[in-house]
Amino acid sequence: MRQVHLAVLLGFAAFTTALPSLSTPHSNNHRSTKNAKVLILGGGVAGVIAARTLHHKGIDDFLIVEARDELGGRMQNYTIGVPGKQYTVEVGPNWIQGTQTGNGTANPILTLARKHHVKNQYNDLDGSITTYDYNGLKDYRDLLNTSIDQFSQIGAIAGERVKMQQVDLSLQSAYGITGATPKNMYEAACQYYEVDWVREYAQSPDQNSWIASAWNNNFTFDTDMGGFSDENNLCIDQRGFKTIIQAEAAEFLLPQQVSLNSVVKTIAYSGDGVTVTLEDDTTLTADYMLCTFSLGVLQYGDIAFKPTLPSWKMEAIQSMVMATYTKIFLQFEERFWFDTEMAIYADMERGRYPIWQSLDHVKFFPGSGLVFVTVTGDFSLRIEGMQDSDVQEEVMEVLRAMYPNTTVPDPVAFHFKRWHADPLFRGSYSNWPPSFLPGHSENLRATVDKRLWFAGEATSLKYFGFLHGAYYEGLNAGEEIAKCVEGPVCTGRQHLNSVIDASPYPFVSITP
Ligand SMILES: Cc1cc2nc3c(=O)[nH]c(=O)nc-3n(C[C@H](O)[C@H](O)[C@H](O)COP(=O)(O)OP(=O)(O)OC[C@H]3O[C@@H](n4cnc5c(N)ncnc54)[C@H](O)[C@@H]3O)c2cc1C
Ligand SMILES: *[C@@H]1O[C@H](CO)[C@@H](O)[C@H](O)[C@H]1NC(C)=O
Ligand SMILES: *[C@@H]1O[C@H](CO)[C@@H](O)[C@H](O)[C@H]1NC(C)=O
Ligand SMILES: *[C@@H]1O[C@H](CO)[C@@H](O)[C@H](O)[C@H]1NC(C)=O
Ligand SMILES: *[C@@H]1O[C@H](CO)[C@@H](O)[C@H](O)[C@H]1NC(C)=O
Ligand SMILES: *[C@@H]1O[C@H](CO)[C@@H](O)[C@H](O)[C@H]1NC(C)=O
Repeated sequence: MRQVHLAVLLGFAAFTTALPSLSTPHSNNHRSTKNAKVLILGGGVAGVIAARTLHHKGIDDFLIVEARDELGGRMQNYTIGVPGKQYTVEVGPNWIQGTQTGNGTANPILTLARKHHVKNQYNDLDGSITTYDYNGLKDYRDLLNTSIDQFSQIGAIAGERVKMQQVDLSLQSAYGITGATPKNMYEAACQYYEVDWVREYAQSPDQNSWIASAWNNNFTFDTDMGGFSDENNLCIDQRGFKTIIQAEAAEFLLPQQVSLNSVVKTIAYSGDGVTVTLEDDTTLTADYMLCTFSLGVLQYGDIAFKPTLPSWKMEAIQSMVMATYTKIFLQFEERFWFDTEMAIYADMERGRYPIWQSLDHVKFFPGSGLVFVTVTGDFSLRIEGMQDSDVQEEVMEVLRAMYPNTTVPDPVAFHFKRWHADPLFRGSYSNWPPSFLPGHSENLRATVDKRLWFAGEATSLKYFGFLHGAYYEGLNAGEEIAKCVEGPVCTGRQHLNSVIDASPYPFVSITP
């Protein structure tokens, strides 16, 4: 029998234990000849919430298989700073996006933060802002207001287009049609702020679906459409944002229900069940498998499926996009920059070190000397290919341009994480391109042979990209899989054999 290392959920201690094996009697239902009834691949938000859901349904015969040495997935912090001045910052998700309005529906991530006393703070993204260009301070905040109005107008028109059953187009087309295409670098910087950054698409307007961007925004931020609120809270808890998921797991998860440091290589499936093989050749068998790996991991082909996934599933996986969002942290001896929460820098090149956030602010970490700049999309990939020192040099050139009359010193600490290069993620989160259709989304979350289940932020129709998207997808998958485990009937999730056009292309029927 193989021994697999199990580190612990909250990092209290590490120990070794055996995986459930042929001889291990299982607590629920009848004795199984498999390692578990359900294998949950991935211990991020979706995986942990799926496990919790099974547990609530009385099903404890599951095993979470996770490559890293802790739970939380993309929820990852980093300790930055010189000795005596160190802070926990978030290299992954940082905001609870959409909070709660009155006693309306709360974002479940906010509910977890409240429950586990994870500190978060309202972040005024649109109101507390300073604007710059290459020659220093330059007030174009009126253009930001215009940009905000343009985005909501574009969202409203998207709603009309849906009603009229008009085809989806890109946000680029939407800006063109409404006469809102940026005409200069300031308008471009404000459009970047709205589209690529604040709405978190992490890609440029030509790479975004018009309709899906509008509803993704509505379902999270617009209370008329069932959204939570239009506010964003920044997590500043020094235990790390991941505490919400690790503390939640600690309430119900037993050590033998998690296998950390376990990298999945192969997933074999048949009518009989599923066999998962790890990097060290350990095999795990189960009746059902829930895969919560990032879309990027599935796209890249890190996991071999045997037999290969059906074409409708492959098409869905390869048609959504994994975008990249990069936060570059800097610490200085002392703050010399803006006293607002946010700043925009307009450059001749759209997306070149454009969004600045001050953590050395009374609401966050006053006196920390911390500031960070965010880049996204293709620019993220560009800097991932560069050395840290070269990126730092570019960032400093921009900062010195923003402060022509200040002697800007070099930073005392500098850090960014390369999300696209990380084989466990291969990007930061999914984004919906204009060529992706609702049928593709249905196929992304559909089951294969009622054995393979899929969940994670990318499978969420309404909240793709967000933590709460991962949460709701984990919840739903847990509920559906529980029905299958309980039996007698397992319906699985439906798929479309092919996603087709509403009206055929005329030339296709012309025979030569
Ligand atoms: C930089 C950044 C900023 C973000 N900002 C926000 C934000 O402010 N607000 C917000 O709501 N969302 C934000 N997000 C998105 C949010 O992080 C995700 O939506 C969410 O964490 C996804 O959870 P998940 O469970 O679907 O996937 P994951 O967290 O990716 O979980 C999947 C797990 O599978 C594991 N895994 C992968 N491959 C293997 C393998 N071969 N074998 C074993 N295990 C494997 C991974 O280690 C991981 O733990 C951000 C993401 C990033 C990266
Ligand atoms: C994340 O934060 C915790 C708590 O402050 C810390 O112990 C841990 O080292 C941090 N992780 C990294 C990678 O810095
Ligand atoms: C929510 O608030 C409204 C108005 O404040 C109140 O009328 C209603 O009873 C509340 N609902 C719940 C479930 O508390
Ligand atoms: C920098 O100083 C020059 C000369 O004193 C002044 O004209 C300019 O406005 C200053 N620029 C900024 C951004 O403060
Ligand atoms: C932008 O809009 C906000 C909120 O409506 C308003 O308070 C602010 O004065 C506006 N700013 C500019 C420069 O027009
Ligand atoms: C988004 O919300 C706005 C305002 O509530 C609404 O007019 C529009 O139809 C919605 N768009 C979509 C695509 O749901």
